[in-house]
Amino acid sequence: MRILYVVGTRPNFVKTAPVIAALRRRLPNGRHTIVHTGQHYDRLMSEVFLEELGVPAPDHMLEVGSGSHAAQTARTMERLEPVLLDERPDLVVVPGDVNSTLAAALTAVKLGIRVAHVEAGLRSFDMTMPEEINRIVADRFAELLFLHSEEAVDNLRAEGIPKERMHMVGNTMIDTLVALEPRFRAAGTAARLGLSPGEFVLVTLHRPALVDGPLLTETVAQLEALAAEMPVVFPVHPRTRKMMESAGADHPGLLLGEPLGYLDFLSLLADAGAVLTDSGGIQEETTYLGIPCFTLRDNTERPVTVNAGTNTLLGLDPGAIAGIPAALAERGETPPPQPPPLWDGKAAGRIAEIVAAGR
Ligand code: UD1
Repeated sequence: MRILYVVGTRPNFVKTAPVIAALRRRLPNGRHTIVHTGQHYDRLMSEVFLEELGVPAPDHMLEVGSGSHAAQTARTMERLEPVLLDERPDLVVVPGDVNSTLAAALTAVKLGIRVAHVEAGLRSFDMTMPEEINRIVADRFAELLFLHSEEAVDNLRAEGIPKERMHMVGNTMIDTLVALEPRFRAAGTAARLGLSPGEFVLVTLHRPALVDGPLLTETVAQLEALAAEMPVVFPVHPRTRKMMESAGADHPGLLLGEPLGYLDFLSLLADAGAVLTDSGGIQEETTYLGIPCFTLRDNTERPVTVNAGTNTLLGLDPGAIAGIPAALAERGETPPPQPPPLWDGKAAGRIAEIVAAGR
């Protein structure tokens, strides 16, 4: 069996690493080909992750880089097509919801190649999010849909997708977290930054709706006010850094930094008193670790994290940041984490069994 994995961005690497490893173990005589689209290309956004996750060097680098949605998607399709024609895989595996996911699913299905979508069925019901469009397309064309939470079943059924294509396997991002836990618990990143465990807020922001317009300035002002009450650590995504630089102000109250490697990031996450984010994956990682998460968005495609009690939707409203210290005081002691079913470190093994069985 020939399996080809397409990855392109930081979260893709995290979600796919355990799937590649499990399928290589389960099908040692198969051909396993890794294609990196190059949607993320900075060392801190790409190589560092592949190294820490133990992903073998990609067999093909498409080097599509940044660009408008149409340009990035089109470049990926144009460069992936000859690779697929040459490799002739039986299955193309795509994770998540980024432009590389959409482009790879479309390219493969047009060549009559089966597609497997890891993290299928999530919906924010917000078509202004590029990721929502990417997910819908990937799910529509994938023959194998690997799900990590129950609501995905209803979402897919509502779109007329037959049950036979769905496989509830659990969360491969949590597989990676579980595998790295001994290492990130020993990393001591908070102490290295002079921070006390449980007493700082970790911030990540990168969504266009928040960082590409005037809300960013307001958000940063709110973070500075929050930093007067508890340290605020903010490793800045390149998109966000570009926008902050064009706004031009200094931010002496904030611990700003470059994007972190995954071990350092998970180490800080596990020690944080709270997390403020607009990321999807971080809503899940905080749920697994039992860390309070405040999500600066109007909606989430991951309601399972809200139901688990760790995630609070603040709305796309920087003013709501001011309420975080009171919300934390009100929560009191954080109860032990209660991860959703099958968020147990074994999701990729289930995927490998299903693929190997030829279902
Ligand atoms: C992309 C995904 C988003 C995901 C995020 C994870 C899409 C539509 N968006 O957003 O769903 O949550 O990745 O991080 O696929 N840049 C660099 N270096 C890099 C990569 C990007 O400087 O290595 C800068 C460039 O200025 C680029 C901008 O960041 O234009 C945005 O990059 P892009 O990949 O288009 O989207 P992300 O915001 O990273």
